[in-house]
Amino acid sequence: MDMVQRPRRLRSSERLRKIVRETRMDKASLVYPMFVVEGSNIKEEIPSMAGQYRYSVDRMGEKLEELAEAGVGSVMLFGIPDIKDEAGSQAYAQDGIVQKAFRRAKEICPQLYYIGDVCMCEYTSHGHCGVLCGHDVDNDKTLELLAKTALSQVQAGADMVAPSDMMDGRVAAIRSTLDAHGFINTPIMAYSAKFASAFYGPFRDAADSAPAFGDRKTYQMDYHNRREALKEVMLDVEEGADIVMVKPAMAFGDLIRETKDMVDIPVAAYSVSGEYSMIKTTAAAGFIDETSIMCEVAASAYRAGTDIYITYFAKELATCMDEGR
Ligand code: PBG
Ligand code: ZN
Repeated sequence: MDMVQRPRRLRSSERLRKIVRETRMDKASLVYPMFVVEGSNIKEEIPSMAGQYRYSVDRMGEKLEELAEAGVGSVMLFGIPDIKDEAGSQAYAQDGIVQKAFRRAKEICPQLYYIGDVCMCEYTSHGHCGVLCGHDVDNDKTLELLAKTALSQVQAGADMVAPSDMMDGRVAAIRSTLDAHGFINTPIMAYSAKFASAFYGPFRDAADSAPAFGDRKTYQMDYHNRREALKEVMLDVEEGADIVMVKPAMAFGDLIRETKDMVDIPVAAYSVSGEYSMIKTTAAAGFIDETSIMCEVAASAYRAGTDIYITYFAKELATCMDEGR
């Protein structure tokens, strides 16, 4: 046999495979999404997300310290208020749940970087991501509330804000409000290509944020659309986004890659609740190996081009990255 190319040559030992590995992952790029609730001494497991909990502000330190210890770079906070109303007023209340959480987190665990998810759906009585006009979300009225929400989070200590509502013009609205209040250096990570996805199901149980009627298809994107996703990314870049995101991650690797090739700013990918729960439940049933699948799925997002990976497996992945898996 006279073969010139023998690709197996570079796979012949563990040591060599590590030398020639193409995709290298860094745990500083991991973001852990975390749910906080009102009350005290609460750490309650989320039924739809085995191993994930809702924490009261006084108990969140346990988790934050674990994450910092593991080398996870940042935490994204989601607030679940006691009171929900039509206008989602707890989203921008000075003493709202997430605002209290930012203040406490910055105090007890300042070595982590804190990101605020900016949306209304956890805070509105109807579960939609903005204020309603009839049966649809009123885009421009919602912009004002989103900007107020972002500002209140930053004033409470958030290092970065991440609007996830999918209203038109929200990045520009948030940027100008932050700038007007002197927060010119607070970055915005835009959920740019965010699809109307059944993968968010477990999250909506966790945050009690499922829409009371209809769905989110008038604002979140149709997952058949590629050009439209790239257009949303470009618009957010033009409006001043510092980081753009593709969400979900697992079924959208093509768009992570296309986004990465198109923009010259960092790209984030959000491996959402349904991706997490699919792995957890299938592994619990004994059909797959949880850690191996988790690593394989994470590597696919980084290989597709993500710079920042948002995942409920952040802590476990950090450990795997240490082990070079
Ligand atoms: C709020 C928001 C959602 C997620 C992140 N921010 C829910 C939604 O859009 O319905 C989903 C995260 C997940 O499923 O893990 N808009
Ligand atoms: Zn929302």
